[in-house]
Amino acid sequence: MMRFDIISAVPDSLDSPFNTSILKRAQERNKVEIVVHNLRDYAYDKHKTIDDKPFGGGPGMLLKPEPFFECIEKLMSERTYDRIIFPSPGGKLYDQQMANRFSLLNNIMIIAGHYKGVDDRVREKFATDEISIGHYVLTGGEIAAWIIIDSVVRLIPGVLNDSESALNDSLMDGEVIEAPYYTRPAEYKGLCVPEVLLSGHEKKIKDWKEEQSKSLTKNWKKINNLE
Ligand code: ADE
Repeated sequence: MMRFDIISAVPDSLDSPFNTSILKRAQERNKVEIVVHNLRDYAYDKHKTIDDKPFGGGPGMLLKPEPFFECIEKLMSERTYDRIIFPSPGGKLYDQQMANRFSLLNNIMIIAGHYKGVDDRVREKFATDEISIGHYVLTGGEIAAWIIIDSVVRLIPGVLNDSESALNDSLMDGEVIEAPYYTRPAEYKGLCVPEVLLSGHEKKIKDWKEEQSKSLTKNWKKINNLE
């Protein structure tokens, strides 16, 4: 079974992400194990200190190296990690291809520090991958950890009910955006579902979907400055 270990100073923030919907179901089906570790449990002074002032000055506090080292070294003594991911806006931009590759691995650790917030020796010593989920700054790596885990777990066979759906996805093969979907009612507040979808004409529906997909993909590339 695939396993994720996340180290966080705010582990509660990941309670509902990992205990809701498909991620919850995936764990119940024993397709994945997701374990969140509270950084504070690895602080060894009696005040359970996990942060301190930065050398060289500057605002704010930094997460100290020792609790991370303690926690990471304990985990590494228990199993072999294929990847130790350090989410950071300075990392490589995350994409579907990376998710696909990660989904083939067994053990992934994610160090969810706070931006500008972790003594850099932690990254330097342990990180195999520094990953950014987008060109913007978050308060911490927990949301990035959620996004990475979500995108990987849905690729594990047996996690999604319709085994086809992950394979047919937008961005799965090449970079293609799918045609839009509609359900009943066929007309709502004057808004109509495209006629062709109600026609029952398989070939026409297939052609329509391909044509929609082509034009949506073209537009997606244009608005995102791709190609
Ligand atoms: N931590 C703060 N901002 C981030 C980002 N954009 N990606 C990954 N981790 C982050």
